[in-house]
Amino acid sequence: MQRKILVTGSTGKVGTYLSQALQKSGGQPHVLGVRSLNCETQEGSVERRRFDWDDRTTWSSALDGIQAVYLIKPPHDEPAPAIRELLASASRLERVVMMSEIHCQAQNDTEPQRAAEVAVERSGHSFCILRPNWFFQNYTTGSYAPKIRQQSILETASASQPVSYIDVRDVAAVAAFELLNDDARSHHLLLTGGEALTSRDLANIIGAAAGRPISVSEVPLDDIRTRVLARGGSEAMADFIVGLSRNIAEGRNAIVTDTVERLTGRKPISFSTFASQNAQFFND
Ligand SMILES: NC(=O)c1ccc[n+]([C@@H]2O[C@H](COP(=O)([O-])OP(=O)(O)OC[C@H]3O[C@@H](n4cnc5c(N)ncnc54)[C@H](OP(=O)(O)O)[C@@H]3O)[C@@H](O)[C@H]2O)c1
Repeated sequence: MQRKILVTGSTGKVGTYLSQALQKSGGQPHVLGVRSLNCETQEGSVERRRFDWDDRTTWSSALDGIQAVYLIKPPHDEPAPAIRELLASASRLERVVMMSEIHCQAQNDTEPQRAAEVAVERSGHSFCILRPNWFFQNYTTGSYAPKIRQQSILETASASQPVSYIDVRDVAAVAAFELLNDDARSHHLLLTGGEALTSRDLANIIGAAAGRPISVSEVPLDDIRTRVLARGGSEAMADFIVGLSRNIAEGRNAIVTDTVERLTGRKPISFSTFASQNAQFFND
């Protein structure tokens, strides 16, 4: 259907591919919300407008004429208040798709990340909350990439626990489906790749693509916390990252769902395919 869509986080891992997926869906008109922008621009069906969670003056013009929105959570210790305020100001929205994380439902409704989901659920808008497992792209453009490139080391909370990692292109394809489908109901989707792999498996696959051995280094949860704080992250951010890592260390991220195939009609991209397509990212 023809809905004008606002994509927040449009320069991020998922947002970039979501824009591509929308363009492939018959040139679906959409607006890329961008934090720093001198003037609004339009190229074909794609507009760029300023959108900054931390600058409320950007919200109403970003949402002008918009029927559906893809939300990434604001980078706040407590993301829920801003989400509530934004959605309350957007009475004409027909659909909200928000990026969350695997296992968010296990948190108490007042914990920050789950409270963000609750803000969407209680907004009165039709919604889809995406709960993906860890992204493949963490190893090419994300935080795990530099150590692989520079030291041939893959760091992990567990070398041996399997995880059903997912490609952000599959996450973006599901997000596009959920933004455009007229019949979509309000629901939560657990998104995974097609197989669960250990960090040792990832290192072997990356090593084959890179043409050199990659070793695995387990990082204790306390060290993960220390690193987040040393980078300037807050205690809340450290709790969040440690919680995600603990789920991996304790073997909770191995579940494989058929959601990607069911909604997109094709199998999830495999890590081997991803690694061979992105071999240049593994070498300096
Ligand atoms: N990485 C994983 O394995 C994983 C797995 C499951 C779920 N998730 C969830 O995915 C979300 C992140 O999505 P992503 O990986 O696609 O994004 P990303 O690559 O981390 O990029 C973040 C995006 O947010 C934008 N942004 C930052 N501050 C902003 C602000 N104040 N106002 C508006 N936009 C702002 C950035 O814009 P600039 O370019 O201007 O900085 C960028 O477009 C997080 O909620 C994370 O918990 C991640």
